Amino acid sequence: MDAFCGIGGSAIAFARCGKRVIAVDIDRDRLSMAKHNAEIYGVSKRIEFIHDDVIEAYPKLSFDALHIDPPWGGPEYFKKARFGWQDFSPNPLPLIRKAISSGVAVAIGLPVNFSEDELRELPPDTIVRESRDATRVLFRTAYYPPVDWARLGEAKFRRLRLALSRNFSTTAPACQ
Ligand SMILES: C[S@@+](CC[C@H](N)C(=O)[O-])C[C@H]1O[C@@H](n2cnc3c(N)ncnc32)[C@H](O)[C@@H]1O
Repeated sequence: MDAFCGIGGSAIAFARCGKRVIAVDIDRDRLSMAKHNAEIYGVSKRIEFIHDDVIEAYPKLSFDALHIDPPWGGPEYFKKARFGWQDFSPNPLPLIRKAISSGVAVAIGLPVNFSEDELRELPPDTIVRESRDATRVLFRTAYYPPVDWARLGEAKFRRLRLALSRNFSTTAPACQ
């Protein structure tokens, strides 16, 4: 499930990797854009789009992995010295805890200024990877259970990292 799917960048990437995706967003216009984008990429049949508050929708849905890219509050997020769970709106921590306790794998998009202390709310073996361009870290992604990067190999990791990219791109990843 892509819990805050926006215009579909991540949901489409997962579908292009062969996954069936449930994509939820509270904003009807963004969800329409996500559907449109999924059609362009030829994956609309693999994605079930749900217009709802994910907090309400979550208990009614069944899935084995949760991608969660909660709203950071716009460009102002960067002015905070330490970003924490409460700075997301809504705070995704209850959903993340529910997922982990029921054996659902989670990947969580985090701003670069996300506080290390706040990461302690996640299980200790959670792994955090950086996504960067040539000059700087753009965002981080926390994974639980930890992904075995060595087993996947770096090439596969690069594809996964692309699949989890927050950026909608005209060069969507080729995952097959
Ligand atoms: C950071 S954006 C996600 C971007 C997305 N990953 C993409 O590739 O386009 C956050 C999204 O969360 C949605 N959102 C905010 N509150 C929500 C809620 N309670 N339930 C579901 N979606 C919500 C917003 O409408 C917004 O589209």
